[in-house]
Amino acid sequence: MKDILSREIQEYINANLNTDLHSLLLKKSPFPEVMMQQLVQQIKGKKVALKKFPFLLKDNIVFPPNLNLEQASSQATAEFKAGNFEGKKFLDLTSGFGIDAYFLSQKFEEVTLVEQNTELLEIVKHNWTVLNRNANFINENLENFLAKNQDKFDLIYLDPARRDEHKNKKFLLEDLSPNLLEIQDQLFNFSNEVLIKLSPLIDISYLISVLNHIVEIQIIAVKNEVKELLVFLKKNQNGENKLITCTNLESDEPSFSFQYHWEKEAVSEYSEPLQYLYIPNNAVLKSGGFNSISEHFNLKKLHPNTHFYTSDDLRTDFPGRILRIEIIESKAVKKGEKYNIISKNYPLTPDEIKKKYKIKDGGEHYLIFTQSLKSKIILRSV
Ligand SMILES: C[S@@+](CC[C@H](N)C(=O)[O-])C[C@H]1O[C@@H](n2cnc3c(N)ncnc32)[C@H](O)[C@@H]1O
Repeated sequence: MKDILSREIQEYINANLNTDLHSLLLKKSPFPEVMMQQLVQQIKGKKVALKKFPFLLKDNIVFPPNLNLEQASSQATAEFKAGNFEGKKFLDLTSGFGIDAYFLSQKFEEVTLVEQNTELLEIVKHNWTVLNRNANFINENLENFLAKNQDKFDLIYLDPARRDEHKNKKFLLEDLSPNLLEIQDQLFNFSNEVLIKLSPLIDISYLISVLNHIVEIQIIAVKNEVKELLVFLKKNQNGENKLITCTNLESDEPSFSFQYHWEKEAVSEYSEPLQYLYIPNNAVLKSGGFNSISEHFNLKKLHPNTHFYTSDDLRTDFPGRILRIEIIESKAVKKGEKYNIISKNYPLTPDEIKKKYKIKDGGEHYLIFTQSLKSKIILRSV
């Protein structure tokens, strides 16, 4: 690791940020002490950091292999998580590249990072020195660490890795390392609060059925792409109340929260399209709070099978897209016009619609093809 920190090599890395990495790999390294593969790894890391963790764009920061870059959280989601937590002692049992830990631990006095991958932990240790941050770095399997540990912590954080990245079957907690089902009760011997990051592919009702002590599940999207589920557990909290919070970062949409068990009791009323159409963001869609959102914002639904809502009063605080709309006849769709086309619960796909009406993608307005309780409808944003 020391070799790549020399000034010449750091300059070479910075000078090649826009070079094609495949062709670079075919060349011989200009530095006898470092292989081209290592140089390319650093260039790749810096390129990823530009978008994913810009706080690491400093001289002498070392980047790990691709898999660890991919597994690491983004700065945006890590900073968001950090907002809510403070205390004396913080423990991250699956430190990885340490992005979450770096932000989550900012308001803690003592930080402990556990990571089984020796090279990765060495890199994190080095980077944290460059960043002027202290921690206890423990290179161990977390199960062994917990078996010996005598300390108590104010917050334990886990971001388990998938055992097999290519598994397509139903996503279960048993597919993760560590297996949370095996260690969940043990964790409360060491802390009253546990925060777990999980893939958005995991089903929320399944999580609630297998994890104990859940107080809140946060669904975090960035620019409407759902990135992670955050599960917050508190010792001795086994009541019915579990808050679901949906957040779309890097948008101006407000967060939306509802009680999981209220969703079953909440009722959506239906209506033909009114002045405004509301399309929930993907975090809300992932949450399944379809009746809760209808009740909370006093909106009517168009149809049981589509999550389109409508009202005559404008609700600007709705977490999603809001369009002022009119219902149009199909003959009002003119050949050659440009629209953003949405088709939900309608027999034709957007491509089929484009072909049939000879219209193009784009422009400022939306055309929405869907159904109300009465009939198929076409809505146009105005
Ligand atoms: C998804 S990554 C964590 C990424 C991290 N949150 C970040 O933002 O950089 C998971 C890490 O947990 C580590 N890990 C998985 N199972 C472990 C275990 N049983 N003991 C210790 N570390 C483990 C893996 O080596 C991997 O580096």
